[in-house]
Amino acid sequence: ELYRLLPVMEPEGQELSEEERVKAIARPLLSWFASNARTLPWRTNQNPYPVWISEIMLQQTRVEAVKPYFKRFMEQFPDVEALAKAEEEVLLKLWEGLGYYSRARNLKKAAIIMMEEYGGAMPKTYEALLKLPGIGTYTAGAVASIAYKIPVPAVDGNVMRVLSRLLESRQDIGKPQTKKKFETLLLSSMEQKEPGLFNQGLFEVGALVCIPNGAPKCSLCPLSSLCKTRKKGLWDEIPVKSTKKGRRIEEKTVFVISGQKEEKEWVALRKRPDQGLLAALYEFPNVEGHVQLESFGEGTQKNREISQIIGVAEEQIQQVEFLGEAKHVFSHVEWHMIGYGIRLGNSLPESFVLADIQELEGKYPLPNAFLAYRKALFKAK
Ligand code: ADE
Ligand code: SF4
Repeated sequence: ELYRLLPVMEPEGQELSEEERVKAIARPLLSWFASNARTLPWRTNQNPYPVWISEIMLQQTRVEAVKPYFKRFMEQFPDVEALAKAEEEVLLKLWEGLGYYSRARNLKKAAIIMMEEYGGAMPKTYEALLKLPGIGTYTAGAVASIAYKIPVPAVDGNVMRVLSRLLESRQDIGKPQTKKKFETLLLSSMEQKEPGLFNQGLFEVGALVCIPNGAPKCSLCPLSSLCKTRKKGLWDEIPVKSTKKGRRIEEKTVFVISGQKEEKEWVALRKRPDQGLLAALYEFPNVEGHVQLESFGEGTQKNREISQIIGVAEEQIQQVEFLGEAKHVFSHVEWHMIGYGIRLGNSLPESFVLADIQELEGKYPLPNAFLAYRKALFKAK
């Protein structure tokens, strides 16, 4: 509390070097974090396993969204051994909705290596962590600093924003060299005794104070007296981030094909290829492009078109309904979809998996990209 009364002041007249400025933030940052840290499910202890799992989940997903996933994950896979033995489909089902599914696959691969080479424990050095699938400098740094108190940085987009502003750095935070530069700077200048609290303090400032959209809350910020951007009122110019290359747009037509068999409602699913986007997950059958059925007129002609696309006899098609448009944005691609709900009689399309719709919730990992059409399915019932 004392630091609040005695704010860290920059010496008059002489400019601090970047190293000195980073060293100077440690005390105010740690005191502030001690009383402002959010209570989060992965902060109940510093065991490496939950730290690892949570940091992987947090990389592309918001804290609020991660919470329920993290809890379920820890119940189902409480340790490295359970994760190493996880059935792929169960693991992916649990990950459903979080996106970036390769993260889940890499977790399992890394757990298998831990079983084989580390006796079921997590490696204890930064360098060994870095060699595992799915673990880059950020995750290795977070686990090593939080769980083992090794003084290494954990630099993600939030940390880069805070540091860019602190130092008034106009280096493009979209570039790998900028991340490297901040990692090198922190490695030499970060807090040495409590590196985990120091890194988490930076995450917390980035999440609660030095926020990404809109004005930062400089009056609440523990770094404010040292922050060059605040002094000059430049927050809307810093950080500099080059705009991403445009995403490729793919048009798709999605078919929600349903029917009844022995009193049970089923829906047709298809397993995606083992490689590439959303590998090995399930999807509603779909084709490239927007198939505009309206232009084929009503009734039989429409049914003929559908029967050719999905491979069932025309007479079996009882109803075709337009389900509207939906869009899903991935990192490099956008899917612009239209959908049709198709009700079939008793002939069942052979090329698909017929999922009992009660089992859809628990058994088949269906990515969020199809959420709009999945909702249509349940609304109809
Ligand atoms: N973002 C990334 N890592 C985090 C953590 N450990 N706590 C809160 N937010 C985070
Ligand atoms: Fe960000 Fe303002 Fe804090 Fe500087 S003083 S780090 S701009 S919140």
